[in-house]
Amino acid sequence: MSTDKIECSAVEKFKAFKTTNNKAKANYSNTNFITNGASNHTTSERELFDFYATPPLATRELCELETFCKDILEPCCGMGHISKVLEDFGYNVESSDLIDRGFGTPNKDFLKLEGPIDKDIITNPPYVLATKFVQHALDIVTTGHKVAMLLKLTFLEGQKRKTLFDKYPPKIVYVSRSRIGCAKNGEFLQTKTGDLNMPSAVCFCWFVWEKGFSGNPEIRWFN
Ligand SMILES: C[S@@+](CC[C@H](N)C(=O)[O-])C[C@H]1O[C@@H](n2cnc3c(N)ncnc32)[C@H](O)[C@@H]1O
Repeated sequence: MSTDKIECSAVEKFKAFKTTNNKAKANYSNTNFITNGASNHTTSERELFDFYATPPLATRELCELETFCKDILEPCCGMGHISKVLEDFGYNVESSDLIDRGFGTPNKDFLKLEGPIDKDIITNPPYVLATKFVQHALDIVTTGHKVAMLLKLTFLEGQKRKTLFDKYPPKIVYVSRSRIGCAKNGEFLQTKTGDLNMPSAVCFCWFVWEKGFSGNPEIRWFN
C-alpha cells in the first residue's frame, strides 16, 4: 500500500469517528471542561485527532531559551500556531498535519513518515498519541538534532514511558511557572497583556531531547 493510501485511510477513519461520535461529543462538551487536559477524560471522550492550539507565548519563550537548527519540521501543525512563531524567529519551517486545517500540507500522517530527517522537530502532539509521537520523532531524526514537544508535566510519570526514557532521556525539561492553556479549535481568549491564552488546570512543559544525549535531564523553568 502506498504512503498516500495509508495517510488517506487515517483521514477516513477520522471522518467516520466524527460522524458516529457526534452524540457522545455533544454530551461531553455540555458537561466537561474543554481546556486541554483540564480533567482526566478517557480517550473516548476526546476527539480522535484532537486539535488544541498552542498559545504563541509558549513558543516565543522556547525560542528565547533554546537554539534550533535552521530547518524545522512541525509535523502536526494544526492552524500553525507554533509554526508562525518559529518563522517569526527566522526558522525555515516545514508544516504538515493529518487533517486539513488551512495551514501547511494536509493528509500527512506523522507516524508513517520515514527517516532520516535532517531537521529539528518541534510540536505539540495530539494528547492520545504523545508517547508514540516522541518515540517516532527521536527514531527518525539524525543524531545531534533536537526534538521539542509541549507536554504535560505528568508525561514524566508512568510505567509505560520507562522504555522511552531509558532509550531517549530528555536533555532539558522547561516547566511553565504560570499556567498556559491550549485552545480547542484555536479559539483563544485574549489576556490583559494582549497575549492569547486559556484558563488551564494543567502544568505544561517543553521537553527537549537531543538525539544521542545519554545523561540525566536538567530541569529549568519558563514563563
Ligand atoms: C494538540 S493539536 C496541536 C496543533 C499544533 N501543533 C499547535 O500546537 O497549535 C494536535 C494536532 O495533531 C494533528 N494530528 C493528529 N494525529 C496526527 C498524525 N498521526 N499525524 C499528523 N498530525 C496529526 C491533529 O490534526 C492536530 O492538528
